[in-house]
Amino acid sequence: MAFDHIWINVNIATMESAPGRPYGALHDAAMAVTDGRIAWIGPQADLPASDAETTDLMGAWMTPGLVDCHTHLVFGGDRSAEFEKRLGGASYEDIAKAGGGIMSTVRDTRDANLRKLIKSGRQRLSVLRRGGVTTAEIKSGYGLRPKTEMQMLEAATAIGAQLGMRIQRTFLGLHALPPKYSEDRAAYVRRVADDMLPRAVRLGLVDAVDAFCETIGFSVDEVRTVFEAARALGLPVKLHAEQLSNSSGAALAAEFGALSADHLEYIDEAGVITMRDAGTVAVLLPGAYYALGATQKPPIDLFRRHGVAMAVATDLNPGSSPVLSPTLMLSMACNLFGLTPEEALAGMTCEGARAMGLADEIGTLTPGKAADFAVWDISHPAELA
Ligand code: NIG
Ligand code: FE
Repeated sequence: MAFDHIWINVNIATMESAPGRPYGALHDAAMAVTDGRIAWIGPQADLPASDAETTDLMGAWMTPGLVDCHTHLVFGGDRSAEFEKRLGGASYEDIAKAGGGIMSTVRDTRDANLRKLIKSGRQRLSVLRRGGVTTAEIKSGYGLRPKTEMQMLEAATAIGAQLGMRIQRTFLGLHALPPKYSEDRAAYVRRVADDMLPRAVRLGLVDAVDAFCETIGFSVDEVRTVFEAARALGLPVKLHAEQLSNSSGAALAAEFGALSADHLEYIDEAGVITMRDAGTVAVLLPGAYYALGATQKPPIDLFRRHGVAMAVATDLNPGSSPVLSPTLMLSMACNLFGLTPEEALAGMTCEGARAMGLADEIGTLTPGKAADFAVWDISHPAELA
């Protein structure tokens, strides 16, 4: 048959759901690719005859390329001093209220130029890629003014193109309130909804819209204003929700048919049910739970019981989750949150793809989908966690 390339002698964790076959695994398998798409996959003994170029993977494992569906990897500066403060007893909220936290990265990001943002962001994304990531989401949100928000999204676009990776650019104008607006929150929210977001869309820089719904972030009503603008522009939404308190963000996300609600440590059963009804994915971020020394875990059993899909991501950012290792996130999802290694890997493959609205294209190794995969020198997929 007319294939472009064939991989043989490989065990494949297809991550398709296959009763009685954990990881959708195929042992002693082969995969053939044509025009960048999976043309054939199955037991090697059944591989159709072909004279295509062939690579012998000598018993390695293949998985879908890992998907990191929640990152803030474009930023200036660092927040190690804040880490020291937290170790000394200050909370993430205390630091934010004192003008540190997200606002300190905003100052450093405004001071950086596009070239610097591209250079440091590209370094971070290449580390993720070495860890098996082929698709990543990148948020803005450290500019909070038009010029720097656009620069962050331009940097994300450039980094993806330079590394040849699939990138989703998410506009996060409601990440923190710039001090200039401390007396007029509504004016900032209007500026985000009526000016910054439409401008970023006109420049072709946005694929999705996010917000930080939290007592130290923005209220449900403020987020609603920006979600309505996103809807009018035809953009999907997602939300940082119930990370530090139950602020009913998940229900708002569900109301807008959000791709995902993320963090969710404080979500209750009613919130979980609204997510299930809307098909909104729960994105678990164990790196932030770990780095903030949090103690409240997201309710994994409720997500399982109600059939809410769980994705896992790095939340890579300089403050709450300065982590660059996707496989460490798999491990933390198991050790800290109680996922099984198979659920964790699904979280960074098929469910991560679903959380980005890309489940038809990537996330499982299925004929017709993109030939987007990683090869691992391991003897069982649980080793990844
Ligand atoms: O996902 N919670 C809001 N956003 C990020 C933190 C960003 C920061 O602290 O710089 C998060 O944890
Ligand atoms: Fe985040």
